[in-house]
Amino acid sequence: MSFDPNGARARFPGLVTDWVLFDNAGGSQILDSAMDRVREAFLTSHVQPGGTYAASQKVSERVDAATREWAACWNAADPRELVFGASTTQLFQNLSRAIEPTIQPGDGIIVCEVDHEANIGPWVRLASRGAEIRWWRPNRETFELSLDDLSRLLTKRTRLVSFSHVSNVLGHINPAREIVRLAHDAGAQVVIDGVSYAPHRRVDVRAIGADFYAASVYKVYGPHQSILYGRLDRLEALPPINHYFIPADKLPHKLAPGGYNFELVHGAGAVPQYLASLGPRGLDEVADHETALAERVLSFLRSRKGVRIIGLPKGAPDRVPTISFVVEGRDPTEIVPKVDAHRVGIKAGDFYARRLCDALGLTKPDSSSVGAGTLAQGGVVRASLVHYNTLAEADRLCAVLDQVIS
Ligand SMILES: Cc1ncc(COP(=O)(O)O)c(C=O)c1O
Repeated sequence: MSFDPNGARARFPGLVTDWVLFDNAGGSQILDSAMDRVREAFLTSHVQPGGTYAASQKVSERVDAATREWAACWNAADPRELVFGASTTQLFQNLSRAIEPTIQPGDGIIVCEVDHEANIGPWVRLASRGAEIRWWRPNRETFELSLDDLSRLLTKRTRLVSFSHVSNVLGHINPAREIVRLAHDAGAQVVIDGVSYAPHRRVDVRAIGADFYAASVYKVYGPHQSILYGRLDRLEALPPINHYFIPADKLPHKLAPGGYNFELVHGAGAVPQYLASLGPRGLDEVADHETALAERVLSFLRSRKGVRIIGLPKGAPDRVPTISFVVEGRDPTEIVPKVDAHRVGIKAGDFYARRLCDALGLTKPDSSSVGAGTLAQGGVVRASLVHYNTLAEADRLCAVLDQVIS
């Protein structure tokens, strides 16, 4: 039986609106149960952990429970492998700080040009330790990353390969398992940005063989929280970045300076249960529906003269419905407000994949995006859909674009 998005929609109060919300790669709607849990936490355990009184104990139990839920959801071997944090950007910065003292001059680091800056900047900064930064760049026409190119970049000195499981602009699903295999064969570790993958498919960190993997819960139907997975032996080997008196072997504390946001972690703990409710394979169960959504929008875009799809042009199993395009002679930031007028919410900009947009010649030289979500000049128009979106909504977007880009 095919997936019916209307059942899913009933779980998202924010979808009760006359808007079509297609900025899901920016942030998804939040589950009813996640909201309930956040409220419950404020009402019944808005205290600090570490005390012997009941409410304080409850905080610790709730954090432990959410960690166990997510560890099981991502198939981690041990809940100690998960660290919560405010954002993926912050978690990768923390990871970079921890890795920094272990870098020797001449160590190689491979970063991927298609990535969000959250998974580039933290590794490029290690050049200050003498690391040699190498760039894995996509084909300029097909936007695809080649494994042969990666093989050529890898050397015996490569310490780290960072890449995204899915690009937040291109929507391609990168072959994570194969990339990890190549990196491991060369003796390197991998840091994977799973932010644009986790809302669409089941994450299995052990099947992938990830050393480090992160995603943002606020794009996976929960509140503003992010999760960093690290294989236990990798985490144990890292120098700590917390206060000197926090035991250096204590996980997750060694990598989590400052307290957790306990209320939001409790809320985040509602998400795995929802994903499991989608079917035995969780989000994998909705892949066909997402492919149909992508194809509905992409087929419209393919039919329009002057439109260039920035990413795979067809709805396919190795792509998610995060769809970017440009229109000849039109600035993306000028198109989007015209779409807003029809109560369809999409977005324009570089989405912090600035290096990709620069490399493709899509950003303007004076482009500056200041603050979260601010439109950069140029970039792409992006419509990003998830499982709770309907084909009727996709049709509405196409009808509006038909008027706006004619
Ligand atoms: C692919 C990708 N990686 C990383 C990030 C950064 O995530 P966060 O906002 O949790 O720092 C984003 C945010 O849009 C993203 O799309």
